[in-house]
Amino acid sequence: MSKVLVTGGSGYIGSHTAVDLIQNGHEVVTIDNHHNSYTAPIDYIEQITGQKLKHYKLDLCDLNATKVVFEEHNDIKGIIHFAALKAVGESTERPLLYFENNMKSLLNVMHCAQEFGVKNFIFSSSCTVYGQATDLPVTENTEMKEAESPYGRTKQLGEYMLKDLAQFSKFQVISLRYFNPAGAHNSGLLGEAPKQIALNLVPVITETAAGKRKECVVFGNDYDTRDGSCVRDYIHVEDLASAHTCAVDYLLEEKNADSYEVFNLGIGDGVTVLEAIKAFEEVSGIQLNYRIGPRRSGDVIAIYSNYERAKKYLGWKPKFGIKEIMQSAWHWENNRPF
Ligand code: UD1
Repeated sequence: MSKVLVTGGSGYIGSHTAVDLIQNGHEVVTIDNHHNSYTAPIDYIEQITGQKLKHYKLDLCDLNATKVVFEEHNDIKGIIHFAALKAVGESTERPLLYFENNMKSLLNVMHCAQEFGVKNFIFSSSCTVYGQATDLPVTENTEMKEAESPYGRTKQLGEYMLKDLAQFSKFQVISLRYFNPAGAHNSGLLGEAPKQIALNLVPVITETAAGKRKECVVFGNDYDTRDGSCVRDYIHVEDLASAHTCAVDYLLEEKNADSYEVFNLGIGDGVTVLEAIKAFEEVSGIQLNYRIGPRRSGDVIAIYSNYERAKKYLGWKPKFGIKEIMQSAWHWENNRPF
């Protein structure tokens, strides 16, 4: 059993990953400032796993407060760093907030990792680092283009900082580039629950169907894609969580060939916005109230992954597709405990 620190542990992906780590024999310590997440997931992680969790409510931008966690847990073997602001639109309105928060918190965690001798580090990155990719599917060798937003820039900068740290110190780093995480936990106790208004497609669809929103607007149907709407690679959050456990084990078992490695995490299949809506309608039996609207500025036209690297080296592959994503998201929408 190894102790793993999960920052952003009560967030959407962090909470699912905490469950997966515990269910695979790891001990988990979580940190969250609850800026965009409730405290309830901590209780539900404990309920699902039947294990008590050591959780700290603190802001990673506070170095001294962060150090206390490392002082109290001098046996942490790995860190998974999820904590960050992640609203693309907000980042274009308040770039400094994104630079300050996302970079400072990452630096502080890196600082503590170095000071307390924790050498295994997993970074929550994103396919947004590829920018407007031209060759699809994207592999880890696809070049990074200009970031489309300050949020995307913080992911690129984070990757570069960690890559340098891994090259010039004893750090072992993996950057996991997520495509579009969606869906909810099979227990029905965890799912996407942002404190701010949901902007991502899947919650917009389920909230519309549940009557919490008037309509779902499809951002453009005049793109050069098979039905004119944007293409994304939607990955079930439980698949994403299990990839983190694989990545932690990979580093702990010293299977990595390089001190800095990158893995795409998607299902390797592109789904258009209109196809996603259709999949929802099929599994829910509900006709969604949607209309075609104008393009959303900054949207990438089409992006989906090649995840062969994760399959080959991490021994990971996704189990779920868009229908299971919609099914679990719809169940979550109707039975949310918080
Ligand atoms: C983007 C980033 C992703 C990041 C995420 C954080 C890219 C390629 N992806 O995801 O890395 O983690 O933001 O939030 O940059 N859509 C509608 N109507 C809606 C909402 C969305 O039509 O009401 C469409 C969008 O135009 C897009 C697709 O649905 O084509 C998915 O959008 P969304 O869920 O917001 O995620 P991304 O923007 O792809």
